[in-house]
Amino acid sequence: MIYQLPDDAGAAKFIMPRSLPRDAVRKYFNCQAKRELQGSRELAAIGLQVPRTFGWGMTPSPAARYESVLFMQMLPSFVSGLDFIRTETNIERRQRFLQRLARQLARLHGNGYVHRDCHFANICLVDDDTLIWIDNDIRKPVRRAERAKGLSKALALLKSTARSDLSDHEWKSFTQWVRNALADWPVGEHLINEVF
Ligand SMILES: Nc1ncnc2c1ncn2[C@@H]1O[C@H](COP(=O)(O)OP(=O)(O)O)[C@@H](O)[C@H]1O
Ligand SMILES: [Mg+2]
Repeated sequence: MIYQLPDDAGAAKFIMPRSLPRDAVRKYFNCQAKRELQGSRELAAIGLQVPRTFGWGMTPSPAARYESVLFMQMLPSFVSGLDFIRTETNIERRQRFLQRLARQLARLHGNGYVHRDCHFANICLVDDDTLIWIDNDIRKPVRRAERAKGLSKALALLKSTARSDLSDHEWKSFTQWVRNALADWPVGEHLINEVF
């Protein structure tokens, strides 16, 4: 649930526990808002665009409806990546979006990260050309096999959320762009075979 704060003070994202009892316990040492704030800053550090984050809070009551709250920049008007692939009919604009996303996905994974909810609705498109990553609960697995699994899961999630909104040709081009771009990054090379 996103609320716009008065006086241009940004947005507050109230976060419900996703899995109980896990989140009711985990919130005391690593709540989701804290993870998202850190994740956003780490993604910004590798050159991806994210909403600016200002702080987070956690609800101490064990029975609280929300586990935590994240304070961040309210994004200017944007189109969700999912709406974009569902409604955009211009082939070149679709291609540009997918190419950008492929490069950024390769940058993320090629720097060792995994976005835990990597689907089209968590990519916001501003001004046609800028992608902004949201919902940034990320991990940086130490083990190579975990990184590989992270990338195949991200691709599977992207594909399943796109359902029939991407043609086979578009998906093929997308995965080829991801493969090409992975080669540019420190841990990208060994992930190339995970992309299909
Ligand atoms: N900083 C923001 N500014 C404006 N809208 C946002 C912002 N962050 C998220 N949203 C909107 O709220 C929706 C839910 O946010 P998200 O972080 O994806 O939470 P959830 O965990 O519920 O998916 C997004 O799909 C997007 O439309
Ligand atoms: Mg989301």
